[in-house]
Amino acid sequence: MHFTTLLLAAAGIASAKWIVPGARWLDTEGNIFNAHAGGLCIDRESGKFYWFGEYKPEGQVEGGGISVYSSDDLATWESHGLALDTIEGHPWISPDNVIQRPKVIYSEETEKYHMWWHADDAKYSSLLQGLAVSDSIAGPYTFVDATAPMGNWSQDFGAFTDYKTGNSYALYSNGDRLEGRDVYLSKFNSNLTSVDEVVFRFNKYDFEAPTIVQTEKSYYALMSHKTGYRPNNVVAMRADKLEGPWSQPFFVSPAYTRTFSTQSGFSWRIKGTKKTTYLYMGDQWDSVSLWESRNVWLPIDIDEREGSLQVLWHDIFDLNVKTGEWTPIKGKTYNSKNAKLAGDVWLQEATFGAGNVIATGIYGNESTITFEVEGQGQDQWVSFYHQNTDDMGFGDQPQGAPDRIGGSWQLRRISSVAVNGDTENVETLYQRDSHKGIILSSPLLLPLKKGKNTITVGGLYNGVDHKGADLDRIVVYPPEPKTKGGKN
Ligand SMILES: *[C@@H]1O[C@H](CO)[C@@H](O)[C@H](O)[C@H]1NC(C)=O
Ligand SMILES: *[C@@H]1O[C@H](CO)[C@@H](O)[C@H](O)[C@H]1NC(C)=O
Ligand SMILES: *[C@@H]1O[C@H](CO)[C@@H](O)[C@H](O)[C@H]1NC(C)=O
Repeated sequence: MHFTTLLLAAAGIASAKWIVPGARWLDTEGNIFNAHAGGLCIDRESGKFYWFGEYKPEGQVEGGGISVYSSDDLATWESHGLALDTIEGHPWISPDNVIQRPKVIYSEETEKYHMWWHADDAKYSSLLQGLAVSDSIAGPYTFVDATAPMGNWSQDFGAFTDYKTGNSYALYSNGDRLEGRDVYLSKFNSNLTSVDEVVFRFNKYDFEAPTIVQTEKSYYALMSHKTGYRPNNVVAMRADKLEGPWSQPFFVSPAYTRTFSTQSGFSWRIKGTKKTTYLYMGDQWDSVSLWESRNVWLPIDIDEREGSLQVLWHDIFDLNVKTGEWTPIKGKTYNSKNAKLAGDVWLQEATFGAGNVIATGIYGNESTITFEVEGQGQDQWVSFYHQNTDDMGFGDQPQGAPDRIGGSWQLRRISSVAVNGDTENVETLYQRDSHKGIILSSPLLLPLKKGKNTITVGGLYNGVDHKGADLDRIVVYPPEPKTKGGKN
C-alpha cells in the first residue's frame, strides 16, 4: 500500500481533479488524505475551502487529533498537518481521548475560527462537546473547554450555518442510553462559544452522524442508523422551518445499498453562477483498519415538489465549484460474461447481473477472471462492480449473517488486480459488503498501455488466501486531463 502511494506520487498524478468517491485520495504531496468524519469551512481571507477531519494514525483507533487540508476545487488537497494536535496527559485531547467529527465555524464576534467536536474519554462515557479556537483557519487551535450542552449528553457531532439568517446550529445525538437516543438541533449563542437553545429534538429515532442540507425552500436533516462502523441506510427528514414539523424519515439511496456502503456526516451547498449543487460528504469506514477508511462525496438530487432527496452514485464526476455544475465521467464497460475465466470461477445465473449472470468463485491466485480492455497509455481509473455476500459466511470470513439475530459481517473482501500479467505489482482492491443481490463499485487507478491490456482479478494472497467478491463488470475511464484549463 505504501508502495502504491509512492508510485502514484512519483508519477506526479497525486493531485486529483476529478472526484472519485471511495478511492484512495492523495494530497498534493502524494500522502493519503487522512481526514475522516469531517467538515468544511471557507477561509475569510483567501476564499479557499478547508476540510477538517479525524486523523487516524496507521494501526491505531483513536488519538490522532484533527487534520486540515485546503483546496480551491474540492478535488486537489494540500495538507496543513494537524489543526488540533493531541497533548499527552490532557483530560480531553490526549492520545487516549475520543476526538471525533470536528466542525469549524468562523465567529464574527470573537474574530476567531471555532472548532467544535465530540470530546470524550476512551469509553464514550462523558459525551461532551469540545471547543478550540484559532486566529487563522489552519490553526493550530487552542483548546478552550469540553462541555455538556445545556447539561445533556452529546455524541456524534454535526454543525450547520443557515445561509439565510447566518445563525449556526449544533446537531448531536445524545448517546445510546435508554434516556438518550435522540438527536438535538440546538442553536449556538451569537459568539459561538456555547450551545444555548434547543430548536428541535428528533425523539427516540436513535440516529447519529447528522448533517443538514438547506435549499431555497427546505431543510433536509440526514442521519444514519446506529450500526457502529458498519454502514446502513441513511435517512433524511424534511421541514420548512428548523423548528419543524419534520417529515417522517425516508431513505436517501436505493434500499440495501447501505447508502453505497457509507455513513452520513457532512454536506455542502455550492451556489454556483449557473447551478446550485448539494454534496453528500460521507465516510466509507474500514473497521478492520480505520486509517484506510475512504471519503465518499456524491452529488445530491432534490425534488422539492415531493420533498425528497437522493444521493446519486457516480464512479467519477467532475465538479466545477465556480459554476456549480458537475458532470459524470463516461467510461467503457466490460462485462464478466465476456471475460476469460480460470480455475474455479464460473458464471452463475443472477437476475441482477449484466447479461443475467455474475462471476463467482474468485479465490486466491488461480481462480481468476481476466478482462481484455483498451487503454490509452496512461494511468486510468477502473471501477470494479461487485456483489459481496459476506452475510453468508464462509472461507476466511466465517461469521456472516447481518440479517439474522445477533448477526455481524465482514465489511470487505480483498481482491488482487494484476495489469498485463504483472503479478509483481498487484493492486489491492477492497470490496465492501453489498448485501445479496446488490452491486456496488470500487475504483482503482491502473497503469494501462496504449491499445490492448489485460486486467486479472483474483483473491488476494498475502499469506492467507482471500476470497474476492463476485464480479459483475468493470468500467474503464479515460485518463484524467492534466489541467482544468479550457474546460469551463
Ligand atoms: C438528556 O435529554 C433526555 C431527553 O432527550 C433526557 O431524558 C435526559 O435526562 C437528558 N440527560 C441529561 C444528562 O440531561
Ligand atoms: C460570548 O458571549 C457571552 C454572552 O452570550 C459572554 O458571556 C461571553 O463572555 C462571550 N465570550 C467571548 C469569548 O466573547
Ligand atoms: C499463489 O498462492 C499460493 C497459495 O495458495 C502461494 O503459495 C503462491 O505464492 C501464490 N503465488 C503468487 C504468484 O502470488
